[in-house]
Amino acid sequence: MGMIETLRSVLRFRPFELDPVERRLARAASIEDLRGIAKRRLPRGVFDYIDGGAEDELTLERNTAGFRALEFRPRVLRDVSDIDPSATVLGKKLPIPLILAPTGFARMADPEGELAVARSAARAELPYTLSTLSTRSIEEVASAADRVAHSRAGTPLADRRRWFQVYVWKDRDLMKDLLARARESGYEAITITVDTAVLGRRERDVRRGFTIPPKIGLGTLIDGALHPGWTWAFVNAEPIRFANVVGKHSDDGSSAVSLADHMNSQFSQSLSWSDIEWFQEAWGGPVVLKGVQTVEDARTAASLGVEAVALSNHGGRQLDGAPPPIELVAPVADAVGGDVEIYCDGGVRRGSDIVKAVALGATACMAGRAHFYALAAAGERGVDWMLDFLEAGVRQTMALTGCKSLSDATRDLLRSRSSA
Ligand code: GLV
Repeated sequence: MGMIETLRSVLRFRPFELDPVERRLARAASIEDLRGIAKRRLPRGVFDYIDGGAEDELTLERNTAGFRALEFRPRVLRDVSDIDPSATVLGKKLPIPLILAPTGFARMADPEGELAVARSAARAELPYTLSTLSTRSIEEVASAADRVAHSRAGTPLADRRRWFQVYVWKDRDLMKDLLARARESGYEAITITVDTAVLGRRERDVRRGFTIPPKIGLGTLIDGALHPGWTWAFVNAEPIRFANVVGKHSDDGSSAVSLADHMNSQFSQSLSWSDIEWFQEAWGGPVVLKGVQTVEDARTAASLGVEAVALSNHGGRQLDGAPPPIELVAPVADAVGGDVEIYCDGGVRRGSDIVKAVALGATACMAGRAHFYALAAAGERGVDWMLDFLEAGVRQTMALTGCKSLSDATRDLLRSRSSA
């Protein structure tokens, strides 16, 4: 054989992918890779808003470190030919124990914004939590998700899993109105965020004078020129608004505001335990408290009869120096595991992280930044990719640790690196 033929027989060129989204995804192997793509595509201010945490970002870093500090005690020879990674959340089955956490302003990452995430979640049959600070409305998101569910034969309405995240407005009439709209649109549960009495000090945003919607000023012009794809989509799309309150509130995002000013002026700092009952009554369905960070507060939540506590420090965006949620799972499960569901977020980047949380006693994980990176990297297909990636990761981890079902994932599956 001649040299050229020999070469031809060993080299197989990947055909050039014409679709730029597919091209980007073909290069990604992990959520960290999606983060890298998002960083290249987004203007720096938008990327830093999504990626950043409060103050010295100690908690942001410790959230992911908390998962990494756990090591498996893999069991072998357990016939893992038939893995079942499903879990029960709020009394109904999910393909994997994962809930998409609320994230505001999704249209800063992709013009479709929350619609894209809601459709992906509906395809994966996982609950998506729509943020109060969304840039698509309660109704728009419901109908986008319903269209996906409709197109899948046999999905009964009752199985549609969309949740609504609540920041508590000072204006209780507006609050009641939002709850009524969520109920009307078939949302299953509300998630009251309780770690945001005031907004955390995100110093990346302070430095950049970051506003919602982002201002296209002189400084951002150069940044915009360096990110033409994003800038083109941003200037061509309808203006970014707080979609749930357009026309109902003067502060609907028509003028650029700092998020801290907006939240500190509109949302209640007086929220307390005695208000939770008001929500249970006004909503009349499952209530999740998101942002619980101690065993004591988990006990109080359980005694009030909420359906779930989400152990969360808001992805390290609120109190710097808050404990990593993964470290709270075992003590909270010991205290109230039989009474409430326990979710854990903050640093979930792999299926193995989900298995670790479940092994410690969590009912499910929530993930926010992961889908935000995916959305910014590759839009709706990015979110599909990321949800497939996490499911594959859960299955792979189960197979390699000898768990046929998640009930096999118990504490003796893990040890901590420090006690190794
Ligand atoms: C809003 O909830 C944020 O974390 O930026």
